[in-house]
Parts: sequence; structure tokens; C-alpha cells
Amino acid sequence: MIKYAFICIYVALSAISTVSYALEREVVALIGTGDMGDSIGPRLAQKGYRIIYGSRDPARDSVRELVKRTGSNATAASQKDAAQQADIVVLVVPWPAMETVARNLGAMDGKILVDASIPSRQAADGYLESMVETSSAEMIQAWNPAARVVKTLFAGSNVIDNPLSLGGRVTSFVAADDRGAKEIVARIISDLGLVPLDAGPLRNAQAIEAFARLWFVPVLQKRTQGFELALLPSNYWHCIWDDSWYKPVGDSETLAEFPDQAPPTPCRPE
Ligand SMILES: NC(=O)c1ccc[n+]([C@@H]2O[C@H](COP(=O)([O-])OP(=O)(O)OC[C@H]3O[C@@H](n4cnc5c(N)ncnc54)[C@H](OP(=O)(O)O)[C@@H]3O)[C@@H](O)[C@H]2O)c1
Repeated sequence: MIKYAFICIYVALSAISTVSYALEREVVALIGTGDMGDSIGPRLAQKGYRIIYGSRDPARDSVRELVKRTGSNATAASQKDAAQQADIVVLVVPWPAMETVARNLGAMDGKILVDASIPSRQAADGYLESMVETSSAEMIQAWNPAARVVKTLFAGSNVIDNPLSLGGRVTSFVAADDRGAKEIVARIISDLGLVPLDAGPLRNAQAIEAFARLWFVPVLQKRTQGFELALLPSNYWHCIWDDSWYKPVGDSETLAEFPDQAPPTPCRPE
């Protein structure tokens, strides 16, 4: 009898924690149902996010199949309707389509708008060059001034499908001017099995996009081996830091989703 009561309590607590887990997660619109959208959506759904795919043709067979594969909590709609129903809108469309897509999402007041694009083209020498003077993220922010834009690249879709396939966790930069939005996107990146790395303000999207162009060098050289980013934590800064170098920035107090990965390294004696 006592054993039966314990089992009932355990089942009830598990059900409550499952429900509250699901309730804690936001509604995410994935605008674009291609290589990135169809990897990110199913994985976030597994973590309790409600997914709405934004597609030019939400009734298409491939979109219906993706919705079904994502689970009972997923739907598809037009790009604008998906964005309007979501708390977090992830833009995973090709850069040439971005301006039209990003300018037609409807009112974006307070919504988090995630840019993962790589606005580049092949230069005369075959390597990539940027197509923009600033960054895609800063342009998307200018087109949607009321949104809270966050820049990240996630990782290759093969990594998102299987985050530990390369033998360790891949790092994903996150840059934003809105600290709260950055924290939420960092948690999403953790939920995808990646390690979020705080890349500072939104203007640092320019550096993230420059990194993405390096990412393509092996592809352009037709090498078999490319790379994903995985940074080694180095906890030695505290031994050598001197406030006279730079004034510390004021937006780094809340670091819940960017935890230090290792305890500080003991400093060498002077
Ligand atoms: N693949 C990666 O590993 C990776 C990694 C990091 C970042 N990125 C970036 O993520 C973005 C998406 O990449 P992807 O590989 O997923 O691209 P993709 O496979 O080409 O898919 C993009 C999706 O965007 C929608 N789309 C295409 N053309 C459009 C247009 N003219 N107007 C509106 N929507 C359009 C389509 O969805 P619907 O047909 O349903 O509308 C399409 O399936 C790109 O900016 C890319 O640079 C990719």
C-alpha cells in the first residue's frame, strides 16, 4: 500500500514537472523551412518549445511532413502569421530574401528576432566577401526598430541534428544589445546542445559574420575536412587583469546562461 502511494506521488510529481517544463518554454517561429529550419525546429520541440514554421507555402507536402515530424505542438503558417504568434522569431532564410522577409513580419514590439544569416558572396578570387557594410543583424534591427535583435550562427545543421557527433560541444557566438534577449537566446542555444558564448553588443555581429566567412574557406577549397568552433576555456584572466587597461563594461552582471565553464586557474606566484 505504502509502495503504491509512493508510486502515485512520483507519477503526479513527474506529470507536474513535465507540464511546468513545457510551460516555461516560449513559442518560437522559424521563418524558413530549409536546412536550418528543419534541424532547429524538431530539436527545440523536444525541449518543450512550441514551434510555428513560417513558410511561403505552409500547405506544401514537405512543410506538412516537417510539422508532423516536429510533433503535436508544431504548426505552420505564413511567415507573417508565424512571427505574430511567436515570442521569438528565428530568421533562417537566404540573405538575398532577407530584406523582404524581415520588413514584412508585422509589429515586432518587444519580440526577440534572431538572425543567423551569412550575408556574403564569392569575390573575384573565389573566397567570400561581405555583401553589407555593417552586418545583417544591424540591418535587420534597423528594419525592425522595436524588435530585440540577437545575432548567432548556431552551427552546421549536421551538428544541430547530432550535437555530440564531433566529440565535444560546439561553441556558438551570441551578440545583442538587449541583455535579456541575449540570455534567452543563449538558453535556446544550450537547449540545442551547443555552448553559447557571449560576443558582446549587436555591432559585434560584424565579427561573427567575418568568422562565418572563414568557416567556408575549406568548402571553397573543396577540402574534405572543415571545422566547427569549439573554444577552450581559459580562466587565467583574473591573474593578469588590470583595470587601467580598459574600463569594464556595465552589462555583464547577469550571466546565468553564460556560466564560466571551469574554476579559476591558480595564479603563478610573482
Ligand atoms: N545551413 C547551415 O549550416 C547554416 C549555418 C548557419 C547559418 N545559416 C544561415 O541560415 C540561413 C538559412 O540557411 P538554410 O541552409 O536553412 O537555407 P535553405 O535550405 O536555402 O532554406 C531557406 C528557407 O527559406 C525560405 N526561403 C527561400 N527563399 C525565400 C524567399 N525568396 N523568400 C522568402 N523565403 C524564402 C524557404 O522556406 P519556405 O519554402 O518554407 O518558405 C527555404 O526553405 C541562411 O541565411 C544561412 O546563411 C546556415
